[in-house]
Amino acid sequence: NASGAATPSGTPLAVAIEGLRRLEYRGYDSAGVALVAPGLDGVAWAKKSGKLANLIEALDQEPLPEATAAIGHTRWATHGGPTDANAHPHLADGDRLAVIHNGIVENFAQLKAELLADGVAFRSETDTEVAAHLVAKAYRETGDLTEAMTVVAGRLHGTFTLLAVHADVPETVVGARHDSPLVVGLGEGENFLGSDVAAFIAHTKEALELGQDQVVTITPTSVAVTDFDGKPAEAKRYTVDWDAAAAEKGGFDSFMDKEIHDQPQAVADTLLGRTDAAGALVLDDLRIDESILRAVNKIIVVACGTAAYSGHVAKYAIEHWCRIPVEVELAHEFRYRDPIVDERTLVVAVTQSGETMDTLMAVRHAREQGAKVISIVNTHGSTIPRESDAVLYTHAGPEIAVASTKAFLAQITAAYVLGLYLAQLRGNKFPDEIVTLLDELRAMPRKIQTVIERGEYVRATARSMEKSDKVLFLGRHVGFPVALEGALKLKELAYIHAEGFAAGELKHGPIALIDEGQPVFVVVPSPRGRDSLHSKIISNIQEIRARGARTLVIAEDGDDEVRKYADEIFWIPQAPTLLQPLLAVVPLQIFAMALASAKGLDVDQPRNLAKSVTVE
Ligand code: G6P
Repeated sequence: NASGAATPSGTPLAVAIEGLRRLEYRGYDSAGVALVAPGLDGVAWAKKSGKLANLIEALDQEPLPEATAAIGHTRWATHGGPTDANAHPHLADGDRLAVIHNGIVENFAQLKAELLADGVAFRSETDTEVAAHLVAKAYRETGDLTEAMTVVAGRLHGTFTLLAVHADVPETVVGARHDSPLVVGLGEGENFLGSDVAAFIAHTKEALELGQDQVVTITPTSVAVTDFDGKPAEAKRYTVDWDAAAAEKGGFDSFMDKEIHDQPQAVADTLLGRTDAAGALVLDDLRIDESILRAVNKIIVVACGTAAYSGHVAKYAIEHWCRIPVEVELAHEFRYRDPIVDERTLVVAVTQSGETMDTLMAVRHAREQGAKVISIVNTHGSTIPRESDAVLYTHAGPEIAVASTKAFLAQITAAYVLGLYLAQLRGNKFPDEIVTLLDELRAMPRKIQTVIERGEYVRATARSMEKSDKVLFLGRHVGFPVALEGALKLKELAYIHAEGFAAGELKHGPIALIDEGQPVFVVVPSPRGRDSLHSKIISNIQEIRARGARTLVIAEDGDDEVRKYADEIFWIPQAPTLLQPLLAVVPLQIFAMALASAKGLDVDQPRNLAKSVTVE
């Protein structure tokens, strides 16, 4: 979202639209603007589902009046589908107040119940509208928009950037942020707010970085920052040194690099809002009869590409936690092999785009055979969730780079959530065990961040391997799908022949590929895990090293034993075995990206590939 207040740089509306255009990559399932001006009776607004172009067309047909301040938003749906009604802004106080929101309000159901009891009528299914009515209520009580925002910010759980305008104060925009980005652009006789600097970089490079839990009030000539208690707060002033193109990528060289850095947030957001006050899992967007889920006797995960590897991870986790047999199958193979599917089969379709034709055909086929289908999808408003019995959305945000990174981590996270939910429902786990596992999951974003921060060593290694023409990847247990994904990333990005194997399979064939200097990545499981997985893979490393392999090892902090057998080690923080893929795959993503960049290739748009393959 973006806003401009009374601007010499252009009309506030033009500035807001231009900002939205630059931020459209963040979400594009609907767009909207709200304007205020002296003498206007209420807020003027327009909103449209679909891309920003739809909004611009609507504004051409029905222009809005001149304004002194404007706010605008492009949406990536979380609660409520991508319809006109669910688009932002959301109006309250007799259309005299408008609010836009980026993030997820976790406690919206409780807050909505409270507002409904007060007689408030809702016009959308969004969590945001709750915030709009709360700000309106607080404004009636305090008579001050900043104070109202402060009161509401303190009541919301989850993540949010909120902006509000009110017809009573037509030169003011108030914003608040909690775990979601918001930056201030400082102009001459004009000020700006944006989810990132790309929104206003064309007008000013002077910016204020807001801290966590701050409220900001801008007018054309002033900027005031407070904390959520209303006390004046410091914000860091800086000069942006990116140009507009770099700004859209958040200063990263590529969307892929940005998306790799988005991963801790993608995992955290996918976990948000899934538990009740007692810590039990609630999947309110999973509208499927619980008795059907209890009766399921087989799960088949169908997906393609990277999404299919998240399905492999899901198999290990769901079988272990729920004791239900899980098969994983490429959607196109499932569809045409006459699979055994009936009313007690649960098919889980995993897809970032929600549009992959092979996966869609598998979904249709499964339902024709009487199976129930739950889809794990990142893109709201896409086809596969519409054709499924239930959907569990990942909240990775828009993924622009063709080869998937953050959507993959979010898919794995959603699969864990689904597995734990089924275990809870079917009584395979005690409630306190679920709580412990969820706590471990919630600790993962911080650990993923650590892996990303250690990325420079991976990049340097990749740059030194620019001439490699064949790379192998080995893993066991959940490390096996990680190896497969590591190989896929290298193929997709760097056009290098790469192959992933189950390490135990090595001696049954692939070991013939090893000769002097052959690079082999090995994903090493936790030495603290059970079932001697660790010692088995240590033996595998010795076997390939004895035949000349150069071993590039991904191992857990503190694993001293593996050190002796590794030519390079990429350390990852300690984690429970089943959750390790969320960490172990990150160095492999960084490696593939850095090697492709070293070869001068376009990492965001590799040759021959498409983001969303809508043909069979
Ligand atoms: C394409 C993309 C892959 C993606 C696969 C599945 O092949 O290039 O990155 O993993 O489709 O896409 P989906 O949208 O179904 O997850």
